[in-house]
Amino acid sequence: MRRLLPGPGPVDDAGLDDAALAEAYRVPAGRHLRVNFVAALDGATSVAGRSGGLGSDGDRRVFRVLRALADAVLVGHGTAAAEGYRPVLADSAVGRLRAGLGRVSTAPVVVVSRRASLAPADQLVTDAVSPTVLVTCAAADAGHRAALTDAGVQVLVCGDDDVDLGAAVDALAERGLSQLLCEGGPSLFSAALGAGVVDELDLSIAPLLAGGAPGMLGADALPVPVSGRLVQVLEEDGYLFTRYRLSAG
Ligand SMILES: NC(=O)c1ccc[n+]([C@@H]2O[C@H](COP(=O)([O-])OP(=O)(O)OC[C@H]3O[C@@H](n4cnc5c(N)ncnc54)[C@H](OP(=O)(O)O)[C@@H]3O)[C@@H](O)[C@H]2O)c1
Repeated sequence: MRRLLPGPGPVDDAGLDDAALAEAYRVPAGRHLRVNFVAALDGATSVAGRSGGLGSDGDRRVFRVLRALADAVLVGHGTAAAEGYRPVLADSAVGRLRAGLGRVSTAPVVVVSRRASLAPADQLVTDAVSPTVLVTCAAADAGHRAALTDAGVQVLVCGDDDVDLGAAVDALAERGLSQLLCEGGPSLFSAALGAGVVDELDLSIAPLLAGGAPGMLGADALPVPVSGRLVQVLEEDGYLFTRYRLSAG
């Protein structure tokens, strides 16, 4: 992997190793929410309902490094279900990368679901070492919320009829989860942009056209367009790995 912007710097045969990649994606201390997506040239974000068909070795490295740098992984229930999400465990590539960076080797996954759709028997619940967090709202079934709490899930009720993502980010920061990596999906990304809580988009652009799949955002237009400032571009095998700082309006 090589750096195109800022730079380009000197490129040696080995390219950016994991430590250099972590440095390239590091953010300053303090609260920060970044969103990571991989998209095809036509904007498609999945092939046959999953993002894996768009990936590459480089994309998977960036995915792991972003997870390694985060206090928690934030994800909509739709994506957690479609992609078969598992907890971040110590004995995994991400866990080892986290340890190598001097971080706690596990990290919680935070599932956002208005309906509290997570099942107590889900592997995100049963296999987690850092307890999985569910962000939901008061309208979600109280009995189901209680069952999830009994199963070890940290249930955060943020909002009455809908999830208040601003309140959710505050509640997570109060629990020491200040630097969040949001892995989508489109519904959650749209809502997070609308709530003004997204600081950064890390968009991997795959050199292929896929069609037939929705893009990074839901069908509804955002209340206010959000502009991005390009701060970094890396490249490998025709994939572009971009970092945009976002600001509303
Ligand atoms: N290319 C990529 O990088 C990438 C990344 C992520 C996802 N994807 C793809 O996107 C697809 C999934 O799309 P999706 O729109 O269903 O994903 P999603 O945003 O992860 O899931 C939607 C569901 O999550 C919950 N949710 C999301 N935002 C919420 C909010 N603001 N408040 C309350 N609940 C919220 C709701 O769950 P409840 O119905 O339980 O209330 C909602 O039905 C999959 O095909 C996946 O592969 C691609």
